[in-house]
Amino acid sequence: MNKKLIIANWKANPDAPGRAAVLASKIEQAIATARNIEVVIAPPFPFLTAVASIIRHAKLGSQNAFWGDTGPFTGEVSWHQLKHLKVRYVIVGHSERRLLLGETDEMVNRKIRALLEHGIAPVLCVGEREHTDTDISPVVSQQVRAALIGVKKELLKNLVVAYEPVWAISTTSLIARVDTSERMFRARLTIEKAIADMYDHAAAKKVRIIYGGSVRQENIAAIIGEGHMDGALVGEASLDAQEFGAIVRSAAEVAN
Ligand code: PGA
Repeated sequence: MNKKLIIANWKANPDAPGRAAVLASKIEQAIATARNIEVVIAPPFPFLTAVASIIRHAKLGSQNAFWGDTGPFTGEVSWHQLKHLKVRYVIVGHSERRLLLGETDEMVNRKIRALLEHGIAPVLCVGEREHTDTDISPVVSQQVRAALIGVKKELLKNLVVAYEPVWAISTTSLIARVDTSERMFRARLTIEKAIADMYDHAAAKKVRIIYGGSVRQENIAAIIGEGHMDGALVGEASLDAQEFGAIVRSAAEVAN
């Protein structure tokens, strides 16, 4: 069975490399005793090297990657360059990129294909914008299907899907709140079905499905327990090393 996965998505934080290094060191200390859990730190691009030189327990992630290797892609950072920096996971199609920067399903698909084909694990973010009490929006399956067009079945074992309902992300509104465990479980089944329909059930079971949106130390146990999630994508709370450390330790306890 795959280990549970907790990913720190620092977004465009902190403001300077020195502070990124301090935060990475504090997180390293806070997660040092957690066993049987995979922890990834995804800092902004300019801080990747500084963070890489500090982390030992955590793995390195990034928040985006371009699908080409090298060439005339002004302003982009390619999977190839990230691979040289030992980036192991790349967040793809985060709702902030879809909404603020117009990242389309087609762009997401090109990134997913390039990353999987070159041995880097994509963390595909999917999620609906509007809150509903029970049903999972068809947007979730649509985003999964669009992202996986042309992806070879044998590469799926390296894929992570993050279910991140946009309304649950802490920075989208002051009243954002974590989703219920019941809806998380439904989202998991929805994502598995979308993958199983394109491939088969066994392939769908190999994909790790994690949750993101207002994850905190007090809700991580339910996310993994009753929510049946394989881990979490943590935004705001990953900027507080104590809080993030508590999330990782609690996830490790539930999983073991
Ligand atoms: P949050 O962000 O944990 O601050 O809600 C999650 C994310 O956007 O990845």
